[in-house]
Amino acid sequence: MKNVLVTGANRGIGFEAARQLAEAGFKVWLGARDEEKGKKASSILQDEGLEVHSIFCDVAQPDRIGGLKEHILAEDGKLDVLINNAGIFPDKKQSILDVDTVTFEDIQLVNYFGPYFLMQAFLPVMLENNYGRVVNLGAEMGVSSAMDAPMAGAYKASKYSLNALTRLFAGSTRRKNVKVNSVSPGWVKTDLGGEKAKREPSEAMEGILWLSQLDEDGPNGKFFRDREELSF
Ligand SMILES: NC(=O)c1ccc[n+]([C@@H]2O[C@H](COP(=O)([O-])OP(=O)(O)OC[C@H]3O[C@@H](n4cnc5c(N)ncnc54)[C@H](OP(=O)(O)O)[C@@H]3O)[C@@H](O)[C@H]2O)c1
Repeated sequence: MKNVLVTGANRGIGFEAARQLAEAGFKVWLGARDEEKGKKASSILQDEGLEVHSIFCDVAQPDRIGGLKEHILAEDGKLDVLINNAGIFPDKKQSILDVDTVTFEDIQLVNYFGPYFLMQAFLPVMLENNYGRVVNLGAEMGVSSAMDAPMAGAYKASKYSLNALTRLFAGSTRRKNVKVNSVSPGWVKTDLGGEKAKREPSEAMEGILWLSQLDEDGPNGKFFRDREELSF
């Protein structure tokens, strides 16, 4: 049975990804930075008969990533799929001129450094096993052409940088059956996306599910919405 770690999976897109990946036959590690919230979310999915286990995962605490890795490897001996989903967007209504340093740093820490910490931890395991799929939750606000407008600049910079990380880590997997890609979920109705968003989380899963289960000849180092390739 393949296993997957989904970060920030106690609600929103991550929670729906945990559900649909478990329904697709994965053993799911439901990552949450708040253990109570993680247990509550996992028990909802366990009650649906799904193989879901909650695990502490604060992507902004690099000194706790080692323990997370050890736990998963002690239980399963591998990690097949990593979904870097955890994200924050506190500067939605702020220009890059106005965002304070602490907020700027927090956003980079969760949205950019978090995936970096996790890929640094788990890519070597995937390369060693000659199997791995990494899916980074990017955003269309993070493409190059979006950088000329200053609103939400800290978030946009974090997602732009995340796409760079996707390409850099993808470049480290050559000749191995390991794929690292970014996906845009579209505009999704969650706490982060807001009420007016066009998609329900369940409608944002096509790209995530596909990239999690790519064949060996599938893409590496690319960016998609659903299965459509986007420019960085
Ligand atoms: N919604 C959209 O329209 C949209 C569009 C493009 C991209 N995305 C991306 O999709 C991803 C998921 O977004 P969403 O809409 O599902 O957001 P959401 O509903 O606000 O959920 C965010 C999740 O991230 C977790 N999180 C925050 N900081 C964390 C940390 N330090 N460590 C671990 N988990 C942390 C939250 O946990 P707590 O409950 O503890 O806060 C929550 O589980 C994000 O990366 C986002 O940028 C979303």
